[in-house]
Amino acid sequence: MRDLDELRGLAKKAAQQAYAPYSLLRVGAALSSAAGCVYTGCNVENGALPIGGCAERAAIATAVQAEGAAFRLAAIAVAAFATDGAQLPVSPCGACRQALVEFGAEAAVTFRQPDGSWIEVLAGDLLPWRFVMPNR
Ligand code: THU
Repeated sequence: MRDLDELRGLAKKAAQQAYAPYSLLRVGAALSSAAGCVYTGCNVENGALPIGGCAERAAIATAVQAEGAAFRLAAIAVAAFATDGAQLPVSPCGACRQALVEFGAEAAVTFRQPDGSWIEVLAGDLLPWRFVMPNR
């Protein structure tokens, strides 16, 4: 698995690409796949507010595009910033948690806490009692 610090650095870089003129919250995600590759994503908002997308799911979409249905998530880092560059604690939203467990309930997820430290948790622990498609 890639070093989580490497993913944290790449997530910070990805956040610089965010298109977030409405929330002014710039989010970046960097993930590693079980195959050993790294993919990144940022949030992309829209004037039609509900159709904006999160950084985590952007990174997952890029990974699936590259690796296909065999993609498995090994680890993901999420970083967020205000427009003045201040780092902010952002934990993956509910929809992103559901997307993360689809590809790796055992994946490591790291994001900042309010005190500025990085927490590391398993994706599955972020979403107990999650929906799983029956008979799959
Ligand atoms: N956002 C993410 O990119 N990831 C999350 O897990 C939480 C929220 C983005 C979506 C939106 O552009 C902005 O943060 C405010 O909700």
